[in-house]
Amino acid sequence: MFDTLDLESFRRHILDWYAVYRRDLPWRGDPDPYHVLLSEVMLQQTQVHRVIPTYHRFLARFPTLGDLATAPTADVLRAWEGMGYNRRALYLKRAAVAVQAEYGSSLPRSVEELERLPGIGRYTSRAVACFAFGVQVAVVDTNVRRLLSGFAGRPLSEKETETLADLLLPPGRAADWNQALMDYGALVERARPRRSAVPRQRFTESDRFWRGRIVDTLRLHDALPVPSLLTSLPEAGRDEARVRGLVRALHNEGLVAYDEAADTVALPT
Ligand code: ADE
Repeated sequence: MFDTLDLESFRRHILDWYAVYRRDLPWRGDPDPYHVLLSEVMLQQTQVHRVIPTYHRFLARFPTLGDLATAPTADVLRAWEGMGYNRRALYLKRAAVAVQAEYGSSLPRSVEELERLPGIGRYTSRAVACFAFGVQVAVVDTNVRRLLSGFAGRPLSEKETETLADLLLPPGRAADWNQALMDYGALVERARPRRSAVPRQRFTESDRFWRGRIVDTLRLHDALPVPSLLTSLPEAGRDEARVRGLVRALHNEGLVAYDEAADTVALPT
Protein backbone atom coordinates (compact mmCIF):
# COMPACT_ATOMS: atom_id res chain seq x y z
CA MET A 1 0.00 0.00 0.00
CA PHE A 2 2.83 2.41 0.84
CA ASP A 3 5.67 0.84 -1.14
CA THR A 4 6.37 3.96 -3.18
CA LEU A 5 7.05 6.04 -0.07
CA ASP A 6 10.57 6.60 1.13
CA LEU A 7 10.10 5.56 4.74
CA GLU A 8 13.75 5.82 5.66
CA SER A 9 14.23 9.42 4.54
CA PHE A 10 11.01 10.47 6.28
CA ARG A 11 12.25 8.84 9.50
CA ARG A 12 15.57 10.64 9.18
CA HIS A 13 13.91 13.96 8.51
CA ILE A 14 11.69 13.73 11.60
CA LEU A 15 14.39 12.40 13.93
CA ASP A 16 16.95 14.99 12.78
CA TRP A 17 14.39 17.73 13.31
CA TYR A 18 13.59 16.34 16.78
CA ALA A 19 17.25 16.25 17.77
CA VAL A 20 17.26 20.05 17.38
CA TYR A 21 13.75 21.15 18.32
CA ARG A 22 12.64 18.60 20.93
CA ARG A 23 10.49 20.30 23.56
CA ASP A 24 11.68 19.93 27.12
CA LEU A 25 8.42 18.92 28.81
CA PRO A 26 8.07 17.84 32.47
CA TRP A 27 6.81 14.34 31.65
CA ARG A 28 9.53 13.62 29.12
CA GLY A 29 12.26 11.39 30.42
CA ASP A 30 9.97 10.53 33.36
CA PRO A 31 8.70 7.00 32.84
CA ASP A 32 6.57 6.87 36.04
CA PRO A 33 3.42 5.23 34.61
CA TYR A 34 1.04 7.39 36.66
CA HIS A 35 2.79 10.57 35.49
CA VAL A 36 2.63 9.38 31.89
CA LEU A 37 -1.06 8.50 32.20
CA LEU A 38 -1.89 11.86 33.76
CA SER A 39 0.05 13.86 31.17
CA GLU A 40 -1.44 11.98 28.24
CA VAL A 41 -5.01 12.33 29.49
CA MET A 42 -4.42 16.04 30.07
CA LEU A 43 -2.81 16.52 26.66
CA GLN A 44 -5.65 14.87 24.75
CA GLN A 45 -7.73 18.00 24.58
CA THR A 46 -5.68 20.73 26.20
CA GLN A 47 -2.64 22.58 24.91
CA VAL A 48 0.77 21.98 26.41
CA HIS A 49 1.15 25.46 27.94
CA ARG A 50 -2.10 25.04 29.87
CA VAL A 51 -1.34 21.47 30.88
CA ILE A 52 2.06 22.14 32.49
CA PRO A 53 0.93 24.15 35.57
CA THR A 54 -2.11 21.94 36.20
CA TYR A 55 0.01 18.81 35.82
CA HIS A 56 2.33 19.99 38.62
CA ARG A 57 -0.56 21.12 40.83
CA PHE A 58 -2.41 17.85 40.32
CA LEU A 59 0.62 15.73 41.23
CA ALA A 60 1.31 17.84 44.32
CA ARG A 61 -2.28 17.21 45.43
CA PHE A 62 -2.40 13.50 44.40
CA PRO A 63 1.20 12.24 44.44
CA THR A 64 0.33 8.60 43.67
CA LEU A 65 -2.32 6.68 41.80
CA GLY A 66 -3.48 5.37 45.19
CA ASP A 67 -3.99 8.94 46.46
CA LEU A 68 -6.11 9.63 43.41
CA ALA A 69 -8.12 6.43 43.87
CA THR A 70 -9.06 7.30 47.45
CA ALA A 71 -9.66 11.05 46.97
CA PRO A 72 -13.18 12.50 46.89
CA THR A 73 -14.33 13.12 43.31
CA ALA A 74 -15.05 16.76 44.21
CA ASP A 75 -11.35 17.27 45.06
CA VAL A 76 -10.27 15.68 41.79
CA LEU A 77 -12.61 17.95 39.82
CA ARG A 78 -11.30 20.97 41.72
CA ALA A 79 -7.72 20.03 40.87
CA TRP A 80 -8.75 19.83 37.21
CA GLU A 81 -9.67 23.52 37.15
CA GLY A 82 -8.70 25.37 33.98
CA MET A 83 -8.40 22.24 31.87
CA GLY A 84 -11.90 21.89 30.38
CA TYR A 85 -13.48 18.57 29.40
CA ASN A 86 -14.02 17.70 33.06
CA ARG A 87 -15.17 14.19 32.24
CA ARG A 88 -11.52 13.28 31.80
CA ALA A 89 -10.90 13.93 35.51
CA LEU A 90 -13.77 11.67 36.42
CA TYR A 91 -12.49 8.84 34.23
CA LEU A 92 -8.97 9.26 35.52
CA LYS A 93 -10.27 8.79 39.05
CA ARG A 94 -12.32 5.74 37.96
CA ALA A 95 -9.26 4.28 36.25
CA ALA A 96 -7.25 4.76 39.46
CA VAL A 97 -9.98 2.96 41.43
CA ALA A 98 -10.02 0.11 38.91
CA VAL A 99 -6.22 -0.24 38.99
CA GLN A 100 -6.27 -0.40 42.76
CA ALA A 101 -8.97 -3.07 42.72
CA GLU A 102 -7.41 -5.21 39.98
CA TYR A 103 -3.67 -4.64 40.11
CA GLY A 104 -2.83 -3.09 43.48
CA SER A 105 -0.69 0.02 43.35
CA SER A 106 0.71 -0.08 39.82
CA LEU A 107 -0.67 0.21 36.33
CA PRO A 108 -0.65 -2.86 34.07
CA ARG A 109 1.97 -2.92 31.33
CA SER A 110 0.24 -4.16 28.21
CA VAL A 111 -1.84 -2.20 25.71
CA GLU A 112 -4.68 -4.70 26.09
CA GLU A 113 -4.90 -4.48 29.89
CA LEU A 114 -4.56 -0.71 29.85
CA GLU A 115 -7.30 -0.39 27.27
CA ARG A 116 -9.72 -2.27 29.51
CA LEU A 117 -9.49 0.43 32.21
CA PRO A 118 -12.38 2.92 32.33
CA GLY A 119 -11.94 5.89 30.02
CA ILE A 120 -8.62 4.70 28.59
CA GLY A 121 -8.89 4.34 24.85
CA ARG A 122 -6.67 3.24 22.03
CA TYR A 123 -4.51 6.33 22.12
CA THR A 124 -3.88 6.53 25.86
CA SER A 125 -3.24 2.81 26.32
CA ARG A 126 -0.59 2.88 23.62
CA ALA A 127 0.97 6.08 24.92
CA VAL A 128 1.30 4.66 28.46
CA ALA A 129 2.58 1.26 27.24
CA CYS A 130 5.18 2.98 25.06
CA PHE A 131 6.34 5.91 27.23
CA ALA A 132 6.16 4.15 30.61
CA PHE A 133 6.96 0.55 29.76
CA GLY A 134 8.92 0.76 26.51
CA VAL A 135 6.42 -1.28 24.50
CA GLN A 136 7.28 -0.78 20.82
CA VAL A 137 3.95 0.48 19.46
CA ALA A 138 2.95 3.47 17.38
CA VAL A 139 0.94 6.18 19.16
CA VAL A 140 -1.40 7.96 16.79
CA ASP A 141 -3.46 11.05 17.57
CA THR A 142 -5.21 13.40 15.14
CA ASN A 143 -2.07 15.49 14.62
CA VAL A 144 -0.03 12.43 13.74
CA ARG A 145 -2.76 11.20 11.40
CA ARG A 146 -2.75 14.55 9.60
CA LEU A 147 1.03 14.51 9.39
CA LEU A 148 1.14 10.98 7.95
CA SER A 149 -1.62 11.86 5.47
CA GLY A 150 0.58 14.73 4.30
CA PHE A 151 3.49 12.32 3.90
CA ALA A 152 1.35 9.82 1.98
CA GLY A 153 -0.05 12.60 -0.22
CA ARG A 154 -3.70 11.80 0.46
CA PRO A 155 -6.09 11.61 3.42
CA LEU A 156 -5.55 8.31 5.22
CA SER A 157 -8.21 6.35 7.04
CA GLU A 158 -7.64 5.44 10.66
CA LYS A 159 -6.69 1.90 9.69
CA GLU A 160 -4.27 3.08 6.98
CA THR A 161 -2.72 5.57 9.40
CA GLU A 162 -2.04 2.77 11.88
CA THR A 163 -0.55 0.55 9.20
CA LEU A 164 1.77 3.32 8.06
CA ALA A 165 2.62 4.35 11.64
CA ASP A 166 3.62 0.74 12.43
CA LEU A 167 5.72 0.54 9.26
CA LEU A 168 7.54 3.72 10.17
CA LEU A 169 8.40 2.78 13.76
CA PRO A 170 12.22 2.77 14.08
CA PRO A 171 13.22 -0.46 15.86
CA GLY A 172 13.87 0.09 19.57
CA ARG A 173 13.14 3.83 19.40
CA ALA A 174 9.36 3.88 19.63
CA ALA A 175 9.18 6.35 22.53
CA ASP A 176 11.46 8.95 20.89
CA TRP A 177 9.82 8.46 17.55
CA ASN A 178 6.27 8.91 18.85
CA GLN A 179 7.20 12.04 20.77
CA ALA A 180 9.07 13.36 17.74
CA LEU A 181 5.98 12.96 15.54
CA MET A 182 3.87 14.75 18.14
CA ASP A 183 6.26 17.68 18.39
CA TYR A 184 6.59 17.91 14.63
CA GLY A 185 2.81 17.77 14.27
CA ALA A 186 2.33 20.45 16.93
CA LEU A 187 5.16 22.81 15.96
CA VAL A 188 5.49 22.45 12.19
CA GLU A 189 2.21 21.15 10.83
CA ARG A 190 -0.12 23.11 13.06
CA ALA A 191 1.69 26.33 12.25
CA ARG A 192 0.20 26.14 8.75
CA PRO A 193 -3.18 27.83 8.37
CA ARG A 194 -6.14 25.53 7.78
CA ARG A 195 -9.65 26.33 6.75
CA SER A 196 -12.47 24.95 8.82
CA ALA A 197 -15.12 23.35 6.60
CA VAL A 198 -18.11 23.72 8.91
CA PRO A 199 -19.23 27.07 10.33
CA ARG A 200 -19.05 26.48 14.06
CA GLN A 201 -21.59 27.40 16.65
CA ARG A 202 -20.17 30.15 18.83
CA PHE A 203 -18.48 28.38 21.70
CA THR A 204 -20.13 30.62 24.29
CA GLU A 205 -23.55 29.43 23.09
CA SER A 206 -22.70 25.75 23.29
CA ASP A 207 -23.83 23.28 25.95
CA ARG A 208 -20.19 22.41 26.51
CA PHE A 209 -19.38 25.99 27.43
CA TRP A 210 -22.23 26.22 29.98
CA ARG A 211 -21.55 22.77 31.42
CA GLY A 212 -18.01 23.99 32.07
CA ARG A 213 -19.28 27.18 33.76
CA ILE A 214 -21.62 25.16 36.00
CA VAL A 215 -18.77 22.92 37.18
CA ASP A 216 -16.56 26.02 37.61
CA THR A 217 -19.21 27.61 39.86
CA LEU A 218 -19.55 24.46 41.94
CA ARG A 219 -15.78 24.31 42.46
CA LEU A 220 -16.22 27.41 44.62
CA HIS A 221 -19.10 26.10 46.75
CA ASP A 222 -20.39 23.15 48.67
CA ALA A 223 -24.05 22.37 47.89
CA LEU A 224 -25.70 25.23 46.02
CA PRO A 225 -29.47 25.70 45.51
CA VAL A 226 -30.23 25.66 41.79
CA PRO A 227 -31.66 29.21 41.89
CA SER A 228 -28.36 30.41 43.40
CA LEU A 229 -26.42 28.51 40.76
CA LEU A 230 -28.46 30.37 38.15
CA THR A 231 -27.62 33.79 39.56
CA SER A 232 -23.96 32.81 39.95
CA LEU A 233 -23.69 32.17 36.22
CA PRO A 234 -22.84 34.93 33.76
CA GLU A 235 -26.05 36.64 32.68
CA ALA A 236 -26.13 35.09 29.22
CA GLY A 237 -26.41 31.65 30.83
CA ARG A 238 -29.36 32.29 33.14
CA ASP A 239 -31.91 30.24 31.24
CA GLU A 240 -33.48 28.13 33.97
CA ALA A 241 -34.86 25.36 31.78
CA ARG A 242 -31.58 24.95 29.98
CA VAL A 243 -29.50 25.03 33.17
CA ARG A 244 -31.75 22.42 34.78
CA GLY A 245 -31.37 20.22 31.70
CA LEU A 246 -27.59 20.58 31.83
CA VAL A 247 -27.53 19.84 35.58
CA ARG A 248 -29.57 16.69 35.00
CA ALA A 249 -27.21 15.52 32.24
CA LEU A 250 -24.14 16.28 34.39
CA HIS A 251 -25.74 14.37 37.27
CA ASN A 252 -26.40 11.35 35.05
CA GLU A 253 -22.76 11.36 33.95
CA GLY A 254 -21.50 11.56 37.55
CA LEU A 255 -19.94 15.01 37.19
CA VAL A 256 -22.29 16.69 39.69
CA ALA A 257 -24.67 15.44 42.38
CA TYR A 258 -28.17 16.89 42.17
CA ASP A 259 -30.39 16.50 45.25
CA GLU A 260 -33.95 16.60 43.98
CA ALA A 261 -35.66 17.03 47.40
CA ALA A 262 -33.48 19.99 48.37
CA ASP A 263 -33.09 21.25 44.79
CA THR A 264 -29.37 21.67 45.42
CA VAL A 265 -26.38 20.72 43.35
CA ALA A 266 -22.77 20.02 44.34
CA LEU A 267 -19.63 18.37 43.07
CA PRO A 268 -19.88 14.63 43.79
CA THR A 269 -18.18 13.14 46.84
N1 ADE B 1 0.50 15.49 22.96
C1 ADE B 1 0.06 14.31 23.39
N2 ADE B 1 1.00 13.64 24.05
C2 ADE B 1 2.10 14.42 24.04
C3 ADE B 1 3.38 14.30 24.56
N3 ADE B 1 3.72 13.22 25.24
N4 ADE B 1 4.22 15.31 24.37
C4 ADE B 1 3.83 16.40 23.69
N5 ADE B 1 2.64 16.58 23.17
C5 ADE B 1 1.77 15.61 23.35
